[in-house]
Amino acid sequence: MAIHISNHPLVKHKLTILRDKTTDHVKFRQLVRELALMLAYEATQDLPTSPFSTETPMGTAVGAQLTYEIGLIPILRAGLGMVEGLWELLPSAEVWHIGIYRDEKTLRPVQYYNKLPVNPRVQLCLILDPMLATGGSAVATTDILKKWGAQKIKFVGLIGAPEGVKALSEAHPDVDIYLAALDDRLNDIGYIMPGLGDAGDRQFGTGD
Ligand code: PRP
Ligand code: URA
Repeated sequence: MAIHISNHPLVKHKLTILRDKTTDHVKFRQLVRELALMLAYEATQDLPTSPFSTETPMGTAVGAQLTYEIGLIPILRAGLGMVEGLWELLPSAEVWHIGIYRDEKTLRPVQYYNKLPVNPRVQLCLILDPMLATGGSAVATTDILKKWGAQKIKFVGLIGAPEGVKALSEAHPDVDIYLAALDDRLNDIGYIMPGLGDAGDRQFGTGD
């Protein structure tokens, strides 16, 4: 297992604005998209390539082409906002939706939707969810993907709590985790501190 916390100044700058309680949901969505793109850049640094030659107007250039097909798995709802950012880097990536919410009392994940195709046909699955809190949703999604036959899985999020990182890395040590920040802790109702509040409500404007 490897955990990567971005050290990029643009990520830090944008995440600070994202956290701000006065950031409205239009700006919030834009920042989620931009941060997702930058984290995807970091999460794809080790993608394998094969040599590929192309003819320039001046001669032959030996370049590279990606050898993996990539699937994006946003965890509904909040992971949805990350898809557009990933698509800017990986426009042909397939997207399969997994619907999971946390039960407010138990904090356990409840699955309500699954749009995976019958068989996996990609070599890398990127799970997208801005928040890794208890880790229950990420662990459940990884369980689903592995049962389905996914070989290589990475988790791309924005903010993690130590509790969530521990849960995911203990349950699935082969899943690398990419985050913009690792925060202090969870509070007594399972929210990340200082975090950013409710990532779904803040994206979709559904908070009270
Ligand atoms: C949030 C978030 C994650 C989950 C993280 O979703 O987007 O999916 O909580 O918490 P965990 O690590 O403790 O599982 P939420 O349950 O609020 O659903 P929503 O995105 O539909 O609002
Ligand atoms: N889900 C969120 O949206 N925010 C948190 O802090 C924890 C879980």
